[in-house]
Amino acid sequence: MIFAKNTDEVSAMLSAGYRGRQVLAVADVNTAAFVPRGVETLVMPCGEEHKNIESVEQIWDFLHAHEATRDTVLLCTGGGTVTDTGGFAAATYKRGIDYLNIPTTLLAMVDASTGGKTGFNRNGVKNEIGCFKQPAETVICTALLNTLPREEILSGFAEMMKHALVADKREYVRLLAMLEDGSLQHTESAEFADAVKRSIAIKERIAGADPEDRGIRKTLNFGHTAGHALEAAAISKGRVLRHGYAVMQGMVAELYLSALKEGMPHEILQQMSSVMREYYGRAECGCNDMKELLRLMRSDKKNKTAGETNFTLLADAGKPLTDRHAGEKETEEALEYLFSI
Ligand code: GLY
Repeated sequence: MIFAKNTDEVSAMLSAGYRGRQVLAVADVNTAAFVPRGVETLVMPCGEEHKNIESVEQIWDFLHAHEATRDTVLLCTGGGTVTDTGGFAAATYKRGIDYLNIPTTLLAMVDASTGGKTGFNRNGVKNEIGCFKQPAETVICTALLNTLPREEILSGFAEMMKHALVADKREYVRLLAMLEDGSLQHTESAEFADAVKRSIAIKERIAGADPEDRGIRKTLNFGHTAGHALEAAAISKGRVLRHGYAVMQGMVAELYLSALKEGMPHEILQQMSSVMREYYGRAECGCNDMKELLRLMRSDKKNKTAGETNFTLLADAGKPLTDRHAGEKETEEALEYLFSI
């Protein structure tokens, strides 16, 4: 992981680090300008709805058309759609070539671009197809966040809250304070950059200890069983629901289950419900979507036993519990709570 102050520093690092190797790039429409001059670039549409096999095929075709070899480096710059599909295309092209991530959204900085999860959505299921391949390098430059809309910052901030909730109660309290004192409007501040660094450090520590998601890394799935179902339901209706917003909603539902089943202090559920209401708004899904949401949760790839839904829950902030199960009635109750706030 490299932290860069500005885009010139990013370009200088790339030129120095990959001299003599063919570098090709994949970028989304908003980020092609960050690719260093002279690097052939495939520009892709951005958005979760493009995280599909067609995008992966486009990248494979691009690599083929430029006669990429196993020595080629694929630079992926953009949000999670680019880093996930680009990483997967790199992991599978000629049995694997190096790739670099330069994430340009907060969400991709703190989550998608580290830890080596690559893949795409299929059959309406998030990340149904994918593999683990670590990026050769990830370059973080928070200066790239300055032009992002507030919703994009909030989307990434939800994953930062998740990292704090599963790993560090003090950090959770710090992030609540940042929301209240308006720090999210100052992404150029040193305080914001430090919070991003701490969040990435949590992600790297957990993913590094369990790269293939068999043990402690499952703690990072907190909020994602319900969150992925809410996100998939939105996509199937042709609506845009930012990933972080879906994770915020998923965390509220799973905090409800944590309080109900694991004795988590109610205060945390109340705090996060207020955060959601005040900053993220209400869930778009409602009780009419219940059947579909329960079906999507049952098909989640984290489930081991057919018919059971697997969750990561919390006993407290910083005390995650993996491989917990909730029955259909309890899950319905948690979603009803989410839709009521
Ligand atoms: N996004 C969760 C993980 O990388 O494990």
